[in-house]
This record gives sequence, C-alpha cells and structure tokens, in this order.
Amino acid sequence: MEDGKGWSRRTLAAQALGRIDEATGGVVPPIHIATTFIRDDDGGYARGYAYGRPDNATVREAEAVIAALEGAGGALLFSSGMAAATALFLALKPGDHVLAPKVMYWALRDWLLTEAVRWGLLVDLVDMSDLSALEAAMRPGQTRLVWIETPANPLWTVTDIAGAAAIAHGAGALLAVDSTAATPVLSRPLSLGADMVMHAATKALNGHSDVIAGVLAVSDAGCEVWAHIQRVRKLNGAILGPFEAYLLMRGMRTVDLRVRAASATAHDLARRLSNHLDVIGVLYPGLEHHLGHAVAVRQMPDGFGHMLSIRVRGGEAAAMRAAARVRLWKRATSLGGVESLIEHRASIEGPGSPCPPDLLRLSAGIEDPDDLYRDLDAALLGAHV
Ligand SMILES: Cc1ncc(COP(=O)(O)O)c(C=O)c1O
Repeated sequence: MEDGKGWSRRTLAAQALGRIDEATGGVVPPIHIATTFIRDDDGGYARGYAYGRPDNATVREAEAVIAALEGAGGALLFSSGMAAATALFLALKPGDHVLAPKVMYWALRDWLLTEAVRWGLLVDLVDMSDLSALEAAMRPGQTRLVWIETPANPLWTVTDIAGAAAIAHGAGALLAVDSTAATPVLSRPLSLGADMVMHAATKALNGHSDVIAGVLAVSDAGCEVWAHIQRVRKLNGAILGPFEAYLLMRGMRTVDLRVRAASATAHDLARRLSNHLDVIGVLYPGLEHHLGHAVAVRQMPDGFGHMLSIRVRGGEAAAMRAAARVRLWKRATSLGGVESLIEHRASIEGPGSPCPPDLLRLSAGIEDPDDLYRDLDAALLGAHV
C-alpha cells in the first residue's frame, strides 16, 4: 500500500499508508524520539539518519501520508503553519518579487509586509479573485512566486487555481496555494497546476485542536526551490517534533470523514443562516450568490469546506454580543477541529484588516448540525437591540 497507488485518499489516510512496525508487527508504528544516531565504522550514516533537526523517521511517515493525499512528489513538515509558509519565502532571494492576496491569513500578511520586506523581498498584494488583476501585477522575469489562499480567510474568497497557475507559469513564476481551509479531501491544487501546497496542519488535517504543525507539499521534489526549502528547515531548526508528527498521523486517519461531515454542516448552516433575520450576510463559497461560487464548484467538487462567516445585524456590538451568548459553540480562534468555534475576527486581526467589524467567523465541527443551529439562533436573536 505504501506507494499509494490504486487506493482512494480516504483509504490511504485511514491506514496511514498501511505501515506495519517491522520489529513487532504492530499496526501502529512506534514514535521515533532519538535526536542522534550511531555512525557506521566508516563514519557514514548508511541508515539515513544522523541528527534530529534535519530529519526524523516519524516525521517522514506523516510526510508520506500528506504527500499521498496531495498527489505530491514530496512533503516537509514544520513546527507550525507559519514556519512552513515562511520557509518557502525564505528560500527565495532578496530582490525577488512576490504576489500575495489582499484577503489572506492575517499573520502571514503581517509577516510579508514587515519581515519579508525587511529581508529584501518585494511584496505586492492583489485581489486574487480577479485573474486580470493578477496578470497586471506580474513582473515577468522578476516575479518568482504567486501565493494564493483559497478559500481565503475570513471572507472565503475563492481563487481560480488553474487560471492563477497559467498566469504565474507564463511569467516564469511558481504558484503556491495555502489550502488549509479546503484540505486535500476537498481540493487538490497540484492536480490543477500549482507547484506547491501549504497547510496549517494545526487545523483540519490534525482536526483535534491539540497540535501546532505546518506542511509544504511539492509537485516536483527535484526542483531547485525544494532543495533550498529543505536547507531552510534544517538550518532554521523548524522541523516538527516526533510526538506532534504521531498525533498528526492519528488525526489524519479520520480526515476524510471529519472534513466531509463538517463541510456538509457548514453548508447546511450557511443556507439556514441566509434566512435568519439577525444575519445581514453569509459568506460561504457553497452559496450561489457567493462571488467565487462558480470557480468553487469546479475546483471543490466534493464540498465547499467547514468555514463560513456571517455578518450580524446591528454592527460590531451586536456581533460581540452574539459571540458572548453561545453555549455550545466555543468562543476561540483557530479552525478545523472536531468542536465548532466562533470568533469575532476583526478584533483579532487589528488595524489594516479587510475584515468587516460585524463579522463572526465560524468553524463547523462534527457535532449535530441542528444543535449548532439552535445555539446560534438563540445567540443571534435580538443581539442587535
Ligand atoms: C489559512 C491559514 N494559514 C496559515 C495559518 C498559520 O498556521 P499556524 O497557526 O499553525 O502557524 C493559519 C492559522 O490560523 C491559517 O488559518
């Protein structure tokens, strides 16, 4: 089973590629915790492991699962989603031009506009839902990377991955996709022409709100930038720990079931909340009026994801009041866990955020959708008075 050929993603994930512990026959492999390894008589490391910062066997096993789920040539796990994303940018050179979305995960936008610029990257933000805006922003020969996030936090803006890949490649740039909200269950960016996929594995890949992790998966593991990313991970000391890698692998065994269930719940909630008197707008790519719906139908054929946002009648104060009144939803940041989370997003993102102040971001979990709706309905009713 290890080559991943012939089995569906659900099967590959459920069995973590079917690995058996060679020493004991255990159906769950052991956690490899050694940080250093015996050298051979000739001073070499014929078994392939020398030290725990560049590499770890448990981390490699989790990487193999993600590579299989993404249809990737290779995957590298990092100590967080931010460590994974920034490793790609740090593998570029000062003076390189990069494009990123105006609407995107706020901490990465913050890093790009401050640390990346300080380090010498030329960064422009573009409306990535508009391919003509992307095309106009490209600087052929200088733009090395186009970074997109789809669906993108917190408005769930959709970018046409195949269209963005054609534009990036036409100008000699790479396309990388933050696919955290879509997950490999609902979208496969590499099959649509992207060169690299990034996930905050902290979210739905792990799914249990108990691991911070990030991953990059690449279509061609022989490409120059991939070798550089491996160096960045090794020299910056950004590898994931073995215990986290094990927990992530355990979480991923159920990723297909969890994501499909949470996505169906989010879609159901989006439809119901669209008719709620205390909600003035629902942002969800599965709704026909969402600007990215037609593209989402093409590139997310099995569902539109577990994330949605609502705009509450009565503005920021009403949104805060509704968030304060929930009993079942957990009032917390993050997303992709089995428990549903609600968050007033603008107050987390701070100044410069494109997030409207009346917006609540919802991460649907796997609870009973009727319970989730009942709790929201009660919290929203009259929140604007
Ligand atoms: C879409 C997206 N990308 C990246 C990240 C960063 O991940 P981490 O918190 O694991 O660094 C997050 C975290 O919320 C996210 O939502």
